[in-house]
Amino acid sequence: MQDERLVMAGYREEDREGDLSLRPRSLREYIGQDAVKENLNIYIHAALKRRDALDHMLLYGPPGLGKTTLATIVAAEMGQNIRVTSGPAIDRPGDLAAILTNLNAGDILFIDEIHRLSRAVEEVLYPAMEDFALDIMIGKGPTARSMRLDLPHFTLVGATTRAGQLSAPLRDRFGMMFRLELYTSEQLAQIVKRSSSILGMPAEEDGIIEIARRSRGTPRIANRMLKRVRDYAQVKADGRITRQVANEGLNLLEVDELGLDKVDRNVLLTMIDKFSGGPVGLDTLAAATGEDALTIEDVYEPFLLQLGFIQRTPRGRLATPAAYLHLGRQPAQQALDPQINFLNEDQ
Ligand code: ADE
Repeated sequence: MQDERLVMAGYREEDREGDLSLRPRSLREYIGQDAVKENLNIYIHAALKRRDALDHMLLYGPPGLGKTTLATIVAAEMGQNIRVTSGPAIDRPGDLAAILTNLNAGDILFIDEIHRLSRAVEEVLYPAMEDFALDIMIGKGPTARSMRLDLPHFTLVGATTRAGQLSAPLRDRFGMMFRLELYTSEQLAQIVKRSSSILGMPAEEDGIIEIARRSRGTPRIANRMLKRVRDYAQVKADGRITRQVANEGLNLLEVDELGLDKVDRNVLLTMIDKFSGGPVGLDTLAAATGEDALTIEDVYEPFLLQLGFIQRTPRGRLATPAAYLHLGRQPAQQALDPQINFLNEDQ
């Protein structure tokens, strides 16, 4: 039970429940991330041919893009079990030692938010990844000695939203690194279509496209919005997801036609109204919006950057003319020409 607690602790509610059935179970079913899929397919087949464990793998990118799903698929394609845990759930080196010694050969160990492992825990991971060995200290003081235990050949799949925060020794021990990209609206439409069919929801193409368009490149958001639109359709309409029903349901969630939510708009309007469009530093922006700086960077910024609504400059974040126009604000001269802004600030 202790082990079970470790394995599930720190895991998101939505991963534990409902969403599971919507997850693709094979690479063939998995939509998008084509380059990652193509590489994985080769490496998985090569490992199977050699009857070897797959090399350790790091998956990184914004949240909600399918890192956990991919890890589960890798395990299924390899015909192996997966143990799931997360960086914050592994408090002490002993916790990790307990997990590692309970693995079987070929198992996949998935560590979500791997950048949040403490240094002491990370140090247990180095020999485990490199030599499949666990170094333990026996005794204390002058009579203490170290003993090496063999571990089964397992595969570590690490996931993080911030690859840059991983220490170099940990990063160097991954044989593969895959960056997951935001999905296109067309890919999201395929995902929403698949999910609505699994959930048995009648949905018209136009309604599906509307949900996909507003999901900010993220399948987790697309599936969540699909469920809320279903609720709306069942209470306010005849249960069918049409463009109008999707529109009305999503407006109720305060998601605008590009998929921006209240927080996105607050971040942009703060930059525009309080900082003349910027440049404004991340910490200043966090303080002014009441949002956490890391959350802005990991969750909100990737999509705003993709839309071209903000730019990152050495002096801070800058709202672009496109952001002004979308929010119905008149672009300030400095937003039209960032150079002017830099010159003014330098004076
Ligand atoms: N559901 C969530 N993410 C998915 C994906 N990438 N492909 C298919 N279905 C999904």
